[in-house]
Amino acid sequence: TRPLKVALLGCGVVGSQVARLMTTHAHDLAARIGAPVELAGVAVRRPARDRDGVDEALVTTDAAGLVSRGDIDVVVELIGGIEPARTLIQAAFESGASVVTANKALLAQDGPALHAAAEKHGADLYFEAAVAGAIPLLRPLRESLAGDKVNRVLGIVNGTTNFVLDRMESTGAGYGEALAEATALGYAEADPTADVEGFDAAAKAAILAGIAFHSRVRLDDVHREGITEVTAADIAGARKLGCTVKLLAVCERAEDGRSVTARVHPAMIPLSHPLAGVREAYNAVFVEAEAAGQLMFYGPGAGGAPTASAVLGDLVAACRNRVTGGLGPGESAYAQLPVSPMGEV
Ligand code: HSE
Repeated sequence: TRPLKVALLGCGVVGSQVARLMTTHAHDLAARIGAPVELAGVAVRRPARDRDGVDEALVTTDAAGLVSRGDIDVVVELIGGIEPARTLIQAAFESGASVVTANKALLAQDGPALHAAAEKHGADLYFEAAVAGAIPLLRPLRESLAGDKVNRVLGIVNGTTNFVLDRMESTGAGYGEALAEATALGYAEADPTADVEGFDAAAKAAILAGIAFHSRVRLDDVHREGITEVTAADIAGARKLGCTVKLLAVCERAEDGRSVTARVHPAMIPLSHPLAGVREAYNAVFVEAEAAGQLMFYGPGAGGAPTASAVLGDLVAACRNRVTGGLGPGESAYAQLPVSPMGEV
């Protein structure tokens, strides 16, 4: 069998781990896929940086040329943000490649258009790593629970803010001090806006709600409030009531079952609730389904190797489909359950 060719866009914290796992797990990957998989190119912005373990000959700054060269089976997009990721993904589909991405912002903004492009070109679009890092969540929601009816998805989907709130809780520190610690330890990015203002969690809520309820939910549909206004006094007050404060993403089917809502905001959680015990930068998501009852998914929601694990799982699925001629879930997964305006939540 001919080797499957993979183009990697972005070789940062996650991308470098994807490249490493593709090498160290090459034998197992080939066995699981039914064909060997090779890294055909790695597109980066700054080629001079040392990229441990990545063959220098594969590194290029021409991402557009790499995805369009015609022999790529799967493009793994780990650049993040809207552009140039969107254009590159579209170009990948036009060249007949499938796409694996961790790009929650792009999916929350343009998910349906991306699915439509994949479908048009007979390609796959997989994005398990976009929500809750290593935790298998999207595939169980979409596949394992496909015969059930999900009514609610609720959880902690942003590790940075959970770390900050956890530090405020355990040390009594104020928001600024806890954020500074998160930054110093590498949990928060230099510009923490997307995390602390709830944009990252809202994008994940949009993706989760879309899959859980077969609906088209976009970032703008998600009511959003971050953690910047949470004070040490709020946390101490919650504690007196036997509660802790967590940034929650809540996606629900309306009571009449005819629409969905999604929101992100700080919430008081009783200390007896399993979500209260989610410490540091971990994520945890509760799923309530009609027949299954309550399920909880828990684990590392970020980080190079954990996120790469989810990317590799998708890579195996996309590669297998190339070998068998099958196709993963596409736009037809969306059944158009309308989203309620945020005012109604
Ligand atoms: N900034 C995100 C977080 C990374 O803190 O959870 C994973 O999406």
